[in-house]
Amino acid sequence: METRDLLYEGKAKKVFATDDPQLVLVSYKDDATAFNGEKKGTILGKGAINNRVTNHLMRLLEKQGVPTHYVRELSPTDTLVRRVTIVPLEVIVRNVAAGSLSKRLGLAEGTPMKKTVLEFCYKDDALGDPMVNEYHIAAMEWATPAELETICRYSLTVNRVLGEYLQDLNIQLIDFKLEFGKTDAGELVLADEISPDTCRFWDTVTHEKLDKDRFRRDMGGVEDAYQEIMKRLLGE
Ligand code: TMP
Repeated sequence: METRDLLYEGKAKKVFATDDPQLVLVSYKDDATAFNGEKKGTILGKGAINNRVTNHLMRLLEKQGVPTHYVRELSPTDTLVRRVTIVPLEVIVRNVAAGSLSKRLGLAEGTPMKKTVLEFCYKDDALGDPMVNEYHIAAMEWATPAELETICRYSLTVNRVLGEYLQDLNIQLIDFKLEFGKTDAGELVLADEISPDTCRFWDTVTHEKLDKDRFRRDMGGVEDAYQEIMKRLLGE
């Protein structure tokens, strides 16, 4: 597929037009940022790992009834996806307290939540992605109540499917962030990525962090953690 114009460049990916108006090409970068872009760096090999891990998980989710934007992997770093309009929300799913939830509620990291917690943040870098609730979402028309209900249902299915899948690989799914998009036909689909950049993965036995927290917190062993996830999920 011949690529055309760069449509958008984000912190971790570029999006290019293709000769099919319904499809775009996503190209994953090794660039890493944290704290709303304040901290910058490179994680060698991250682009390829996040691309392949995301596609692997999206294929699994499709089989389990969650529609996604995934179409076809084109190269280690590039994937063809359906063109969607992104719902301007980050959906965060939490099974165990960590990160900003631990700070906000004064919970020790690693405290299991008695019920899965869903949070929404409005995607706006200038505002620092503020947390919002269903009333803000309806009032601002970021999603209709029916769309939000579908988003919540899919998010909980993703949590169940990925949680069970990862458990068998000795990975505990602590929390993660999802984004959804709408096709021209109005279908809501899972979009963006599912990777060590957007999930907290802990080794079930040692509780070692196998995700971007190693970069955010200057813990070292960042590349090794990404490689380990790739190895456990894709066997290489
Ligand atoms: P948090 O504890 O910092 O709110 O993060 C919750 C989860 O969401 C964690 O798995 C990391 C992911 N996340 C992103 O993917 N992008 C972001 O911009 C932020 C803040 C978190």
